[in-house]
Amino acid sequence: MKFENTLEFAQKLDGEDKLRSYRDEFYFPKVNGKQVIYFTGNSLGLQPKRTQKFVDEVMTDWKNLAVEGHFHSEKPWWDYHEQLAAPLAKVVGAKTEEVSVMNTLTVNLHLLMVTFYRPTTKRYKILCEEKAFPSDQYMLQSQVRHHGLDPEDALVEVKKREGENFWRTEDVLQKIEELGDELALVLIGGVNYYNGQVFDMETITKAGKAVGANVGWDLAHGAGNIELKLHDWDADFAAWCSYKYMNSGPGNASGVFIHERHLNKKDIPRFEGWWGTKKETRFLMKPEFEPMPNADAWQLSNPPVLSVAPYLASLEMFEEVGMDALINKRDRIVAYLEFVLHEIDAEMDGTTFEIITPEDRGTQLSVFLHGQGKPLFDYLMENGVITDWREPNVIRLAPAPFYCSYEDMYRFGQILKEGIKTI
Ligand SMILES: Cc1ncc(COP(=O)(O)O)c(C=O)c1O
Repeated sequence: MKFENTLEFAQKLDGEDKLRSYRDEFYFPKVNGKQVIYFTGNSLGLQPKRTQKFVDEVMTDWKNLAVEGHFHSEKPWWDYHEQLAAPLAKVVGAKTEEVSVMNTLTVNLHLLMVTFYRPTTKRYKILCEEKAFPSDQYMLQSQVRHHGLDPEDALVEVKKREGENFWRTEDVLQKIEELGDELALVLIGGVNYYNGQVFDMETITKAGKAVGANVGWDLAHGAGNIELKLHDWDADFAAWCSYKYMNSGPGNASGVFIHERHLNKKDIPRFEGWWGTKKETRFLMKPEFEPMPNADAWQLSNPPVLSVAPYLASLEMFEEVGMDALINKRDRIVAYLEFVLHEIDAEMDGTTFEIITPEDRGTQLSVFLHGQGKPLFDYLMENGVITDWREPNVIRLAPAPFYCSYEDMYRFGQILKEGIKTI
């Protein structure tokens, strides 16, 4: 389709948008009395209007039933989290039994390392991407040290090539090949938080498994954003947060995937708690741990229902819409945003900024600002464009398909143009 950088054209695209009605299902903040253009669904998704009802339900049950709510509320709390597994499994391409919701992302990565990072004298190295999200770096370094190893030796990073802004799959594969039987684990952010790149998870997983390593994915920026087929790709594990594209609220619960070949095992290394034991015998309070037959075996505590409730609300929306429809809109709106950016750049002198996100991408475009930098970012924020700043000179734009409109993209372009002229 040939795009046009006009309000009429943007409104025409909105008219054709099958997800259009979902925009009204979210609360938008306001700046100067006007609804913002929200580009930070990759950081914190907007609040769905229906979420309040899900939280209120729990509050009301707690008020009226107190402890009885565990078993006698309409959605009993003791297995409340189980309702999330089936819809969430569809979002990440897993079997229902391979998915569970618990804790928060970094906590879950640590817990999954207990199972999937079992260094030996020979096989102890971990492959990750250079400049992985800092929490992942700290997690990996501390895990390696916990095993008495030196992060300098045990952590191997795949680097971008000189002068390039993205990682090449062939460089990841070459490192895997090089490390061979020293490689214990591959753990990479499936969608990079900084440049928005989507890694070729299928190929990398296959290569990692071929040399005998475990392969896991941090999908903080992947869940609810791109098509995932965790089961078919044969990944060992994955974890993600729910507050970005999954719109479940600040710091909210994390999802985990554990491949079915690791389920239903009593002897697997794992940190355990009472919510991982079989439901049937849990309240017999026996000393023996009998694992749940699914990913819930990794659960430790009884679920924090008040934080799981917003995730359930969000998943109801993902169920209604489906990932295919979200991805269709995502591809179109991101292409339109890219077009608008190029149009504005061309109207100026063609050197104002550069998109550093490669072709393999999801919702996010990362834009390196030449020249104006921080003052231009400040101008955008003051004028109702919510984006974020990443050093040294990058703004990230993620038009979440659930609630961003094509008109937003057009209007953003006009504000950006004004900003470049003004500063
Ligand atoms: C790629 C990635 N990994 C890990 C984290 C840490 O998440 P949490 O604070 O929920 O542990 C984030 C948070 O934004 C992230 O983007």
